[in-house]
Amino acid sequence: MIVGSTKEIAPEKRVSITPDTTKSFKDLGLRVLLQKGYGEELGFKSSEYESNGAEFVNNNIDVVQKSNLICKVNLPVKEELEAFKEKSNLIVGNIKKETANLSNKNYNIFSLNLLPRITRAQSMDILSSQANLAGYRAVIDSIYEYQKAVPMMMTAAGTVPAAKVLIIGAGVAGLQAIATAKRLGAIVSATDVRSAAKEQVESLGGKFLSVEGSENLETKTGYAKEVTEEYKKKQAKMMEAAVEKNDIIICTALIPGKPAPRIINENMIAKMKPGSILFDLAASHGGNAAYSEVDKTIEKDGVKIIGVDNIMNKLPLTASNLFAKNIFSFVRNLYSREKKEFSVNLEDEIIKNTLIKNK
Ligand code: NAI
Repeated sequence: MIVGSTKEIAPEKRVSITPDTTKSFKDLGLRVLLQKGYGEELGFKSSEYESNGAEFVNNNIDVVQKSNLICKVNLPVKEELEAFKEKSNLIVGNIKKETANLSNKNYNIFSLNLLPRITRAQSMDILSSQANLAGYRAVIDSIYEYQKAVPMMMTAAGTVPAAKVLIIGAGVAGLQAIATAKRLGAIVSATDVRSAAKEQVESLGGKFLSVEGSENLETKTGYAKEVTEEYKKKQAKMMEAAVEKNDIIICTALIPGKPAPRIINENMIAKMKPGSILFDLAASHGGNAAYSEVDKTIEKDGVKIIGVDNIMNKLPLTASNLFAKNIFSFVRNLYSREKKEFSVNLEDEIIKNTLIKNK
């Protein structure tokens, strides 16, 4: 069986097979086929892939036509989708269900953003691996834009106060943002609608800001529920006081399948200290903050509001290493060593949830 991958389309910088995972595929008994030049923008040499067992062909269509399973970060281009082998498999980081009808050919499509959040799926969980890096990088980029020092420093010329960082949404990205900001010496607080987040925030040394008298807005699967109008009002009151006190605010709040909740409004931004930073990781989902726009830095009332689409492109090497390991773990679960084939066992929750088009 052949596992293949083709180059992603710019601006995407990540890859889904690394020299390391090539070796893992080989050890599992699979061949790896790549498009010429694959991974070279990230500094992965073809010779490195080859010494771990990969083979190269000249163009993307050759890869697709010969492979039994294709791994991609994003949905392949149309000409690739049309060239897929019948009864083959495609694994993609993130596809919308509607796009699964793009080709009439018979092949399976799996989207890893639909993985269930269960223990067995943790090693395949691209949402977690990439969100962790997003939380880290959002802090680094915010500090880069911030014109003051972050840790408290006592010098002969006077004391530099520690910066105050507020994290909105304490999921995977938010918790990593808290840990990163703490490591850099900031005073950190965070808020979330899920009560379980309180203990996690506190265990990282952050202060948890609760919305007064509120219930736990967590679904059975561990995600956030949409808030009620009453909750929204109480949260806004709490945020109005909090934004004035903080220097850097990092927004990470999301609700699966819905637009991002709007938490920071125009009035709150007007109350922020000039020179403050508002980094909206949710910008591509509609934004947690007013004014935020994808891939733009906007200055409003002296506050820099930063929105990004694919923050993974700022650390594509680390992101690819983790993404490729997630993909490998998923393929290992899909591949039957006895039958030497990819077997779609619909009784497996992992396969059932991620399969969006069945051959
Ligand atoms: P997410 O990316 O969907 O949302 C980020 C955070 O925003 C969440 O913590 C959410 O509660 C919060 N949020 C949503 N609306 C909000 C609002 N109006 N105000 C404030 N905060 C708001 O979530 P993520 O990071 O993917 O994690 C969701 C859950 O999944 C967590 O319970 C996490 O522990 C769990 N998880 C489980 C895994 C596993 O067992 N395999 C792996 C990763 C996460």
